[in-house]
Amino acid sequence: MTIEFPDGFAWGTATASYQIEGAVEEGGRSPSIWDTFSHTPGKVQDGDTGDVADDHYHRYEEDVELMAGLGVGWYRFSLAWPRLQPDGRGTLNESGVDFYSRLVDALLAKNIQPWVTLYHWDLPQVLQDAGGWPERDTAERFAEYAVAVYERLHDRVTHWTTLNEPWVSAFIGHATGRHAPGVKDPEAALRAAHHLLLGHGLAITAMRAHGDADSSFGITLNVSQTDPASEDPVDADAARRADGLSNRLFFDPLLRGAYPADTLEDVQAVTDGSYVQPGDLEAIGVPLDFLGINYYFRTVVRAGDAPRDTESIWVGQGDIEPVLRGLPQTEMGWEIDPEGLYDFLTRVGRDYPGVPLYITENGCAIADEKGDDGEVHDPIRVDYLDAHFRAAHRAIAEGVDLRGYFVWSLLDNFEWSFGYSKRFGLIHVDFETLERTPKDSARWYAEVTRANGLPD
Ligand code: FCB
Repeated sequence: MTIEFPDGFAWGTATASYQIEGAVEEGGRSPSIWDTFSHTPGKVQDGDTGDVADDHYHRYEEDVELMAGLGVGWYRFSLAWPRLQPDGRGTLNESGVDFYSRLVDALLAKNIQPWVTLYHWDLPQVLQDAGGWPERDTAERFAEYAVAVYERLHDRVTHWTTLNEPWVSAFIGHATGRHAPGVKDPEAALRAAHHLLLGHGLAITAMRAHGDADSSFGITLNVSQTDPASEDPVDADAARRADGLSNRLFFDPLLRGAYPADTLEDVQAVTDGSYVQPGDLEAIGVPLDFLGINYYFRTVVRAGDAPRDTESIWVGQGDIEPVLRGLPQTEMGWEIDPEGLYDFLTRVGRDYPGVPLYITENGCAIADEKGDDGEVHDPIRVDYLDAHFRAAHRAIAEGVDLRGYFVWSLLDNFEWSFGYSKRFGLIHVDFETLERTPKDSARWYAEVTRANGLPD
């Protein structure tokens, strides 16, 4: 007996440009905000940068070969905006187009469908210098970039994700400043969130205007099932506020055409919201062909005593405290909780019905090391993925329209402010020699993708 996934279920792996490509000064690429940030002392652990990363820019053929060994039918990767449009506007850089075009052809030659993310956090620095996402013009620039690239690749790429995790760009980038561009300004974070969503909507409308019926458009949100630490009403209210800012601030305008009223009220001390212009919510609420979900952990919160204007990822809600429950953790300090994935998927099925879902990222960081036998044994990752796949399968059995699952990540890579200290890959990378070694989990995943299921 096996646990079978639906016919045609899309198994894949995922990466992002700045985390794997390297070659930051090659092929006419201009600096991104992550080049600036990682080269600023003290911002990234051990002073690591993406200058070389996995050198995927030069080794993409080998990486596609490794992917084929996983038996995956799909590969989700992001395009580096500064490689394709170094000035952040206007004509595309042909050498950038050529790189992604070659990658797409290499994937298709191995029967792996390319799934493009247009923006996974590497904003051209020139656009940051002009104000970045807190400025409305960046949304227009994004739509212009999106349609220019779409025109060149939509003959071979069917699935188009506008943004990866706009919550992270907005709040980690602009409220706590732990990510590029490293801003600490709660108002700017909310403005950025709105302009990211607006850019998403404008981009889809522009790409859809081409009328290619083979194209599917969507967005990827990071989700965290958010629950109160106790039955105390103040903790329940803390969970409501955190959920509003982490989840509903994005789900509601995308899928219900309006920002959540309670969340707007919660942030009144931070912003008057005057950056929301007439017509914006219509632009943001453009129909989605799919919704991508990135899930890593559940969030449990309580109300603490800190003043609300204390710096926090939940802007204006500085009293909210995350609570750990003593579950086993990954190297990120994230509690392992597959049930949180089940809970969130079934919630989306209930609260936001009608949109096909894909898990566009899920995986874990483990302190993997090569053994004396030259192999990387990562039983914790196998157990982690196995449990999350089963949770997803249960949600499907209950009617959730989940159509695919992308493991984060194909390769160990540059994990943002943690540099190279966190290994998420199915494939181990030696960051000195750049040698790739499939881990045990890679072989295990290949069995899952080939069986389209798991042993009962
Ligand atoms: C997600 C990011 C991805 C990776 C994983 C661990 O938030 O989208 O790039 O860093 O976390």
